[in-house]
Amino acid sequence: MKKVLLIGADGMLGGELKERLEKKYEVTGTTIETLDITDRQAVLIKAKEINPDYVINCAAYTNVDGCEVNYDLANTVNGLAVENISAAAKENDSIFIHISTDYVFDGKLDIDKIYTEDMEPGPISAYGKTKLIGEENAAKAEKYYILRTAWLYGLGGKNFVKTMLKLSENHDSLNVVCDQHGSPTSTTTLCKIIEEIMEKQPEYGVYHSTNEGFTTWYEFTKKIFEIAGKSTVVNPVTSEEYKVLNPASTDRPKNSMLSKEKLKSAGIIPAKWEDALKDYLKEELK
Ligand SMILES: NC(=O)c1ccc[n+]([C@@H]2O[C@H](COP(=O)([O-])OP(=O)(O)OC[C@H]3O[C@@H](n4cnc5c(N)ncnc54)[C@H](OP(=O)(O)O)[C@@H]3O)[C@@H](O)[C@H]2O)c1
Repeated sequence: MKKVLLIGADGMLGGELKERLEKKYEVTGTTIETLDITDRQAVLIKAKEINPDYVINCAAYTNVDGCEVNYDLANTVNGLAVENISAAAKENDSIFIHISTDYVFDGKLDIDKIYTEDMEPGPISAYGKTKLIGEENAAKAEKYYILRTAWLYGLGGKNFVKTMLKLSENHDSLNVVCDQHGSPTSTTTLCKIIEEIMEKQPEYGVYHSTNEGFTTWYEFTKKIFEIAGKSTVVNPVTSEEYKVLNPASTDRPKNSMLSKEKLKSAGIIPAKWEDALKDYLKEELK
């Protein structure tokens, strides 16, 4: 059985991935308690002990607003620590799979265009900047996949879908941003992409890895309520209007639309976002 070192195994993505991979691989899952990725020696020792075929990093500092105020911590976890992991992967001749984000782009691309992997990143948030440093460090491993995902939700974590469902319990109407475009992505879809990457081993590099199709937060929320049978009214607001209502919020990219052509050329076809959402809500609302 091939061996996997799965870092961040108690996160929203990591938790589900661990459960799925354990059916096919010998998985060692680590958490911040058992392996702090900022501790270089500990990362190198753990990897040597396991000698894994794959190292997968699902650990990150994911609080986008928190990254603005705790830049040093964000930079250490999302940026610098990734070099520890890529060095460990290289030392053991492991394939390194690292998860990144649409936030590496500035989001200023015209709405009739979508981002391909070869486009120049230009992050506008601290989270995006530190994740880009992480990408540069991940690419130092000889055998690496950087999977950029977006708008991630899953059963095992705090996420937008759960927040909207909770808000619908005591709100007759909600204001939701209608001019930011992207692809909601279920952890289940991302897990399947990771598993296929492991099996198919396409050319090393960066792969945009989200559900198929594009929408806005406003349309996404309407779809969540439609499937969940909620009567809460959703009002569209622009990013500028939202910022006036929530001055402390971090600016988000307006265009987060990632092309999946490269992934599809590798024979990996992600589910449509609406189908993934239906599957998720079936479980979430049980
Ligand atoms: N969530 C999204 O919408 C989204 C969008 C695009 C990309 N991504 C990327 O997708 C990946 C998975 O995200 P997720 O939502 O599953 O994240 P998550 O639920 O926040 O999980 C991240 C995990 O990393 C752990 N961690 C933090 N600092 C660590 C350290 N120094 N050493 C070891 N572990 C540490 C966290 O532990 P604690 O909880 O104890 O801090 C947590 O268990 C991340 O790379 C993220 O950047 C997420």
